[in-house]
Amino acid sequence: MRMYDIIEHKKKGMALTSEEIHFVVEGYTNGSIPDYQVSALLMAIYFKGMTLEETATLTMEMAQSGDMIDLSPIEGIKVDKHSTGGVGDKTTIILAPLVAAVGGKVAKMSGRGLGHTGGTVDKLESFEGFKVEIPEEAFFEQVNKHHIAVVGQSGELAPADKKLYALRDVTATVDNMSLIASSIMSKKIASGADAICLDVKCGSGAFMKSLEDAKALAHAMVDIGNHVGRHTMAVVSDMNQPLGYAVGNALEVIEAIETLKGNGPADLTQLTITLASHMLVLAKVCETLEEATQKLQEVIQNGAAIAKLQEWIGLQGGNPEAVVDYRLLPQAQHQKEVVLGQTGYVAGIEAEAVGKAALVLGAGRETKESQIDLAVGIVIHKKVGEKVESDEAVATIYYNDAEKCKAAEHILTSAYTISDEKVQPHTLIYDIISQ
Ligand code: URA
Repeated sequence: MRMYDIIEHKKKGMALTSEEIHFVVEGYTNGSIPDYQVSALLMAIYFKGMTLEETATLTMEMAQSGDMIDLSPIEGIKVDKHSTGGVGDKTTIILAPLVAAVGGKVAKMSGRGLGHTGGTVDKLESFEGFKVEIPEEAFFEQVNKHHIAVVGQSGELAPADKKLYALRDVTATVDNMSLIASSIMSKKIASGADAICLDVKCGSGAFMKSLEDAKALAHAMVDIGNHVGRHTMAVVSDMNQPLGYAVGNALEVIEAIETLKGNGPADLTQLTITLASHMLVLAKVCETLEEATQKLQEVIQNGAAIAKLQEWIGLQGGNPEAVVDYRLLPQAQHQKEVVLGQTGYVAGIEAEAVGKAALVLGAGRETKESQIDLAVGIVIHKKVGEKVESDEAVATIYYNDAEKCKAAEHILTSAYTISDEKVQPHTLIYDIISQ
């Protein structure tokens, strides 16, 4: 087989065979096929597209290029949740104990963050002593016994995707639906779940800016997952403003705890319950979404959800007392209210800008090596559709460095658009896609 012929086939719009895709992924990963030939193939794929069969094959080849996590020591159906990434997204910390409290099993590997705030694993480290590395045996035992464990990514998941993604990044071939969908799904499939619940974000603060693109990506990923035998569904949700009010690691943890106590922001609560109810149905713990939703509301109201969070934090070495005493979480030294001096209705909050402001404060990583400050961040007070008076604060900045606070305030001020006219709040859930 020759790489030249494979490029030629795709250039003519032919579907590549499984053998050809295997040849490309293996050869590129082991270095026997050079960047320039794979670049040419990627551009041909960009223009000629791939069938579902080709996309699914590419996904599995990339997944199998590294470690494939085997979750079979855990009994029952293991469901994973994946978000395409947004500002203020702390749903994992809420839905993991929720699903576990209803009887589902959550065996999750989460990443660290690059960009606006930390990832789930960084946020969880707000609990002093919380261990994100657990030996495999103990991980399985914890999930079997307590139904919940969230750890950092270990091993090497989908190295072929890592290499291909880096090449796409410099050859203007990132924004192709089949390539994006197979890239994300390859990592999910390597993580070992039997079923996958996707949260595809849509809007100014998301990777997919338009609803059309977000739906197309959701469909592409759902098709791949189901094609390769992993029951997959997707929720398409709004990211035109941050999710909930808090952006920044420990601040997001507090908001997650409050949501488990039943005092969470309406949007965050609704999205989390929606995702969690789909996870429970995928796991066959509940028969219908209505039954799942009712049980999830019950565990919030009767305290079982918050008790499960405490149990989980304790199991992984963190201090469960922090769930009741927030002074045990990282605290910023100073606070600054952001007042716009305008009266009107909030018409827009650029989620990306709020994320940028949190990053500037130190809540996120500029590079993989950056240290993050778990205490700092932003709490928004006014969201789209709400009335604001000229002397009212639209947000509070929690900071440890005055210069950084100044820069964050500048960014936040321009993130808000105020209108004289009444503004309708955003839709939160645009679509639910299953096979
Ligand atoms: N995120 C991924 O993991 N892959 C892509 O191709 C795009 C976003």
